Amino acid sequence: MIKKCLFPVAGYGTRFLPATKSMPKEMLPVVNKPLVQYGVEEAIEAGMTTCAMVTGRGKRAITDHFDISYELEHQISGSGKEAYLEGIRGVLEKGIFTQVRQREMKGLGHAILTGEPLIGNEPFGVLLSDDLCMNNGSGVLSQMVQLFKQFRCSIVAIQEVPEDETHKYGVIRGESLSNGVYRVDEMVEKPDPKDAPSNLAIIGRYILTPDIFDILRVTKPGANGEIQITDALQTQAQNGCVMAYKFKGRRFDCGSVPGFVEATNFIYENYYLPK
Ligand code: UTP
Repeated sequence: MIKKCLFPVAGYGTRFLPATKSMPKEMLPVVNKPLVQYGVEEAIEAGMTTCAMVTGRGKRAITDHFDISYELEHQISGSGKEAYLEGIRGVLEKGIFTQVRQREMKGLGHAILTGEPLIGNEPFGVLLSDDLCMNNGSGVLSQMVQLFKQFRCSIVAIQEVPEDETHKYGVIRGESLSNGVYRVDEMVEKPDPKDAPSNLAIIGRYILTPDIFDILRVTKPGANGEIQITDALQTQAQNGCVMAYKFKGRRFDCGSVPGFVEATNFIYENYYLPK
């Protein structure tokens, strides 16, 4: 039902310097798989087989990752090492990869607006690959697609965070409906704990309706001087409807070193080691 997912992957990843000086943050491997591949697999599982990348300078490794590496394939063809490529081969068979470059990093809202030509006039997913989400059942985007079928409006994924961490997130206030679903009344980007409307923080999974592009075009820079998707969603919530969804599963903040190490240990123990 939703065929396209946008991957804003243009950010500088300064929290991982010097590793990210010449390598995209999204290519950092959690065990043996780059962060962005976990994201693409989640999108494809949700039926979003067109993966639209908003890239930037120095991000060519991401484009190359979602293409055939002819020399490598030829070299290991017929050997036991081919097994290592099975996962990415499956992704390449199912996915279509498109891209556009964000020339100036003016924030997540600006990155999403830059992706408009790849999306067009249809609802779409947005996945920030530095938020790695794992669940034993359906992935987070899949869960959100089910909800979209019911509400047909933009949806943000949320989780409860410690009250002293609200300044790192967009935070919502909303009316609780059922099963972790909220109708959003207000959203604030990076509020001080004393000003935060709740401790329900937006994480890197969204389903957006395409009217968001017109709103983004007129959204002024907000927190950190960046064009914030949270500000555009606040307008959408005021004019119509935005839902928030407390997803099932575990999320790791792989944009920070502690979250990345936690994810690595979790994936190594739960998915990599033979059971
Ligand atoms: P972050 O602020 O977490 O990523 O943006 P960053 O800027 O790369 O990391 P730090 O803070 O310097 O360490 C969230 C997501 O939005 C993308 C980033 O690539 C990341 O996936 N983004 C952000 C863009 O694509 N363009 C932007 O202008 C800003």
